[in-house]
Amino acid sequence: MNNLFSSYSIGGLKLNNRIIMAPLTRGRANNDKNIATPLIAEYYRQRSTAGLLISEGSQISTMGVGYMNTPGIYSEEQTQAWKQVTKAVHDEGGKIFIQLWHVGRVSHPDFLDGKLPLAPSAIEFDYNARTPQGPKPAPIPHELSVGEIAEIVAEFKNAAKNAMEAGFDGVEIHASNGYLLHQFIAPCSNIRTDDYGGSFENRSRFLFEVIDEMKKIMPENRIGVRLNPSYHNDHGMFLTEDTIPTFDFLIEKLNDYNLAYLHLSESGRRAKESRFAETQIAKRYRKIYKGTLMINRGFTYESGNKVIEEGGADLVSYGVPFIANPDLVRRFESGSALAEADTSTYYSTGAKGFTDYPALD
Ligand SMILES: Cc1cc2nc3c(=O)[nH]c(=O)nc-3n(C[C@H](O)[C@H](O)[C@H](O)COP(=O)(O)O)c2cc1C
Repeated sequence: MNNLFSSYSIGGLKLNNRIIMAPLTRGRANNDKNIATPLIAEYYRQRSTAGLLISEGSQISTMGVGYMNTPGIYSEEQTQAWKQVTKAVHDEGGKIFIQLWHVGRVSHPDFLDGKLPLAPSAIEFDYNARTPQGPKPAPIPHELSVGEIAEIVAEFKNAAKNAMEAGFDGVEIHASNGYLLHQFIAPCSNIRTDDYGGSFENRSRFLFEVIDEMKKIMPENRIGVRLNPSYHNDHGMFLTEDTIPTFDFLIEKLNDYNLAYLHLSESGRRAKESRFAETQIAKRYRKIYKGTLMINRGFTYESGNKVIEEGGADLVSYGVPFIANPDLVRRFESGSALAEADTSTYYSTGAKGFTDYPALD
């Protein structure tokens, strides 16, 4: 029987275990060019015993950013800087994917050189951007034209090309948590009447165009997709009666691809407020999705082992536990206690609360 310590293969890449580090924005690229630094390389190196590391969300363009000091993967300098990260992880025998991110409307002109954030539809929504001057309400965003959507598809492709150049083992497309691709999928944020709005197919079109373009320049089986079908009451996103049928359609269609994995999140606390939430995400989508399923949110050592032993998922990703436990794999193996992460340093600068959590002796 498989468990968290069983090896696993994705796209010809052998993962030493099934304990995956989930993407975690940490805001340490606090430099003019939003490039990875030696400190960021050290952070990932410390965590390289995970079966696979998925990097923090990394913007694919200057318009894709919505938070302070997040790294980019669109410029030549950013691409070169990521090489120190992939090398540090590979030198330790680890594997690393980069999460490709466009936040869409979850931003503010302060991050965008005064421009309006981009979105499927120019509608009001409830969100306060975390700007350097404190929280500011997000404005009504700019509705993307069809031509502008094509430009963003090309930006995703360029970011994937840069990721390969930088030595990443693969990429994860961030299509969840209320960011741009999710904004197209959800009818609460997408009221378009063209080919990108309305039907399930139209609302999923942008994501599939991104995958179709990316696979022209990198192996399809090194592309992962992250979705969060029960995401609710955050970043202005709401579940509706249409949500789960939309994801059923979309995830069924992902079977046409030979992806590295599908990364799903179990529903969070807020989903309980909605009668439209699917409360057993892995269970529902294990039946629909035929490829590698990675499951996230709230897993412990015990519950992670259980879901793998029972065949409910192939891989389990851990977010917060990796922040204060760089050697999470070893702690699970030895049954050691886990350290608690300090939330005040999640998005601060410097080594404190980033690279100074000790491993066990
Ligand atoms: C500090 C922090 C930063 C995060 N940044 C990202 C991110 O960049 N991309 C993403 O997809 N999810 C992000 N998440 C969500 C995590 O990947 C994960 O879904 C969440 O922590 C729940 O998993 P856990 O219960 O194992 O922590 C972040 C979560 C935290 C706490």
